[in-house]
Amino acid sequence: MVDYVVFGRGCFDQLDEILAPRRKDGAPMVFLLDHYFQNDTALKSRIPIRGNDILVDADVTHEPKTTYIDELANMLKGKFGQVSGVIGIGGGSAMDLAKAVSIMMTNPGNAHDYQGWDLVKNPAAYKAGIPTLSGTGAEVSRTTVLTGPTRKLGMNSDFTPFDQVVLDPALIKGAPVNQRFYTGMDCFIHCVESLQGTFINQFSRSYGEKAQDLCEEVFLHKDNWDDDSDEKLMMASFAGGMSIAYSQVGVAHAVSYGLSYLLGTKHGIGNCIVFNHLQDYYPEGVKIFHKMVEKNNIHIPEGITKGLSDEQFDKMIDVSLGMAPLWENALGADWKSIMTREKLRALYEKL
Ligand SMILES: NC(=O)c1ccc[n+]([C@@H]2O[C@H](COP(=O)([O-])OP(=O)(O)OC[C@H]3O[C@@H](n4cnc5c(N)ncnc54)[C@H](O)[C@@H]3O)[C@@H](O)[C@H]2O)c1
Ligand SMILES: [Fe+2]
Repeated sequence: MVDYVVFGRGCFDQLDEILAPRRKDGAPMVFLLDHYFQNDTALKSRIPIRGNDILVDADVTHEPKTTYIDELANMLKGKFGQVSGVIGIGGGSAMDLAKAVSIMMTNPGNAHDYQGWDLVKNPAAYKAGIPTLSGTGAEVSRTTVLTGPTRKLGMNSDFTPFDQVVLDPALIKGAPVNQRFYTGMDCFIHCVESLQGTFINQFSRSYGEKAQDLCEEVFLHKDNWDDDSDEKLMMASFAGGMSIAYSQVGVAHAVSYGLSYLLGTKHGIGNCIVFNHLQDYYPEGVKIFHKMVEKNNIHIPEGITKGLSDEQFDKMIDVSLGMAPLWENALGADWKSIMTREKLRALYEKL
């Protein structure tokens, strides 16, 4: 779990004080800032750059690739040897980058060597996460999702969670309506998949129910988006992440990983595209989802798999069926006889 959490409007300005005891002589703090903010001089001026600290405009055009992690970590090792810490400021992608780079600062080899479960050997460099979008739960999870040479899979380990998160609802205020919805729905879908899954337990249920309520409050029951909505969504993301930490996600995630691998579809929107068609698996959740889409006047793309070849469908099916724990959570131990390749192909064709 994350060791330290601060929450509150404006708490970003405590960062200097938070980082001070973590600084080591000569070793910089490295700030990986989502490139969305590259021209935001007001935000940049609030980042506590001291000594040889560096600020990197993190390129999140594509979701993090293992090659980009290696490039950043090798640059830092070459230039500084070691760092005091890595601070990720941005959406799920920038936070995942920070987690992975801090792991690679203290572990040998390449990032793709650690894609899987409990493969990381050494504790990572100090790392902190500061979300500017809410929904993924990347701020609390024990994974960092990476696309490697052969698969899209996280570095799941006890060394992956942040040492510190800074939850400042003012930082998510400017998110565009569509992006906020897609990332927010990632959280809603985490809740549905966790609560309806076979791995559910009281730990996950307690967080998942609260997070789902908060999502429905902001996307369904309130008529205007205001500061209170940002605060609720930020806590929904946190609690939703806590919920899946002790259970698993399900069908939407397993299917959307295939889309993302083949077509580069982003996580939030990909989940929405899939969840839109999952009424057979999550009837209640999908009904609420449709209402939220309508109320927020959001466009969910359709027909994105039209014209793909058999080979391409097979690749998506391979990636998706590779996510065994997700399918087992969704459908039970007998999932292989339920989710056949033919059935999954038919589902992909609907998207
Ligand atoms: N580690 C985990 O547990 C976990 C869980 C779910 C998803 N993820 C990962 O998170 C990523 C998706 O994260 P996301 O949905 O937050 O989106 P994102 O981080 O990919 O960002 C989406 C876009 O929004 C921009 N952006 C960021 N903050 C903004 C703001 N305040 N206003 C306007 N634009 C802003 C980014 O520059 C980017 O163009 C994927 O890479 C996914 O694999 C990780
Ligand atoms: Fe997700």
